[in-house]
Amino acid sequence: MKNKKTFKPCDLVIFGALGDLATRKLLLCLYQLDKANLLEPDTKIIGVDRFADEGNLLLKAANTCLEKFLKEERDLLVWERFSARMSYLQMDLTQPDEYKQLAKVVDKEKRRMINYFSVPPFLFKAICQGLKLSGALTPESRMVMEKPIGYDLESSKEINDAVADVFTGDQVCRIDHYLGKETVLNLLALRFANSLFITNWDHNTIDHIQITVAEEIGIEGRWGYFDQSGQTRDMMQNHLLQILTFIAMEPPVSLDADNIHYEKIKVLKDLRPITVENVADKTVRGQYAAGQIKGAAVPGYTEEEGANTESGAETFVAVRVDIDNWRWAGVPFYLRTGKRLPAKHSEIIIQFKALPHNIFKDSFEQLPANKLSIRLQPDEGVDVEILNKIPGIDERIKVQENKLDLSFSEAFKGSHIVDAYERLLLEAMRGHSTLFISREEIEQAWTWIDSMQNAWQQTQDTPQPYPAGTWGPDAATTLLARDGREWENDI
Ligand code: BG6
Repeated sequence: MKNKKTFKPCDLVIFGALGDLATRKLLLCLYQLDKANLLEPDTKIIGVDRFADEGNLLLKAANTCLEKFLKEERDLLVWERFSARMSYLQMDLTQPDEYKQLAKVVDKEKRRMINYFSVPPFLFKAICQGLKLSGALTPESRMVMEKPIGYDLESSKEINDAVADVFTGDQVCRIDHYLGKETVLNLLALRFANSLFITNWDHNTIDHIQITVAEEIGIEGRWGYFDQSGQTRDMMQNHLLQILTFIAMEPPVSLDADNIHYEKIKVLKDLRPITVENVADKTVRGQYAAGQIKGAAVPGYTEEEGANTESGAETFVAVRVDIDNWRWAGVPFYLRTGKRLPAKHSEIIIQFKALPHNIFKDSFEQLPANKLSIRLQPDEGVDVEILNKIPGIDERIKVQENKLDLSFSEAFKGSHIVDAYERLLLEAMRGHSTLFISREEIEQAWTWIDSMQNAWQQTQDTPQPYPAGTWGPDAATTLLARDGREWENDI
């Protein structure tokens, strides 16, 4: 009940409330927050969309959303409370005058206004301007937006400028849903709460790092968006680079937003640029061809429904990233992400260096080095491969590799694994900023990505085909083989 005293209730306005994100995710997460007693009693949810109101359209959408996606039985008492929070407003978001309606439904004194932009980015500017004229905003109000924040540095600046015209830095919540994931947040705990890792986390002990975010799904009807963007803009610019910053940053002074942002920006600034000179050695792009996923035939990317048959968009990308600073000099980070890979699987591998001398030659000609695997999803957990004596009274000590395995589902049995959006919505409503991305982070990430995109364009690089259900083009294997290494594909 402590929460009720501490946090101000909100008027949560969802622009695009009948769209895909809201009706698939946001409404479900809000119900879960209500069920967990994390919504203040007086918090209201106002759905805004362009469809004519026939009764409370938001309520209908929430009902359908829970019918489709709620895994357990609906709690009718919670539903009653939740329903009472909801109302709907029909608005043409391009018409500034229409925003005046908002001033009539929000309560500036009693509640903090949170504006969730669940609409395509071309509407962001119009909504900001409309809100500015609406008379509904206060210095406490916030806006929440999600990727794509631009297509490159220039377009992201345009969006950020339009937002900055109306909202100050603290009022803006830029979401990367990976930062709401339990296992991504656990990286902070793992790194900065364990002396074991604090002292063994640099070029002295680590050989290289792999970050894999593999998806089994294809384009899932999002052709129009995805083909313009490709896997690099869709996944690497945001999710993979965010994971990388958590792994590579210096220990922040505290968990405060400013300290975390500061350390992450330093890492992004230290990424060695991919240029025309090194792009061929450091990157591989792929596009899936027809193949099989778990035994079922699936079409190639350009054979999907509504496909652009000439498309040059990549559905797979692998990059060797070098970080030019004291901690990481000489330690490559290998990043890869792709659609239609063998399984949904996200994992970070920290490969430690081999020992300089081996006294266990009876067991291994070369002692295998320790390996820390951090499984982000689905089977969340952490394991370390260590060498251990084989029990017995042999004359000589023999060792073998074993795993110390911490599976989250085993260790935290019965805990509700919070959806990333539940956490991020709550953070926005409570006025916190740590889990959101700063403008400078986004712009640094784009600067690095733009250089790589530019190099691909100038060298006329085209994605190489790979059969759906495999780990990408052969060249991705070669990328590591050239350095005498290999991808961890054992899932
Ligand atoms: C989104 C991308 O940001 O993340 C999608 O636009 C991708 O293409 C999705 O499928 C993956 O998210 P998750 O949480 O399922 O790993």
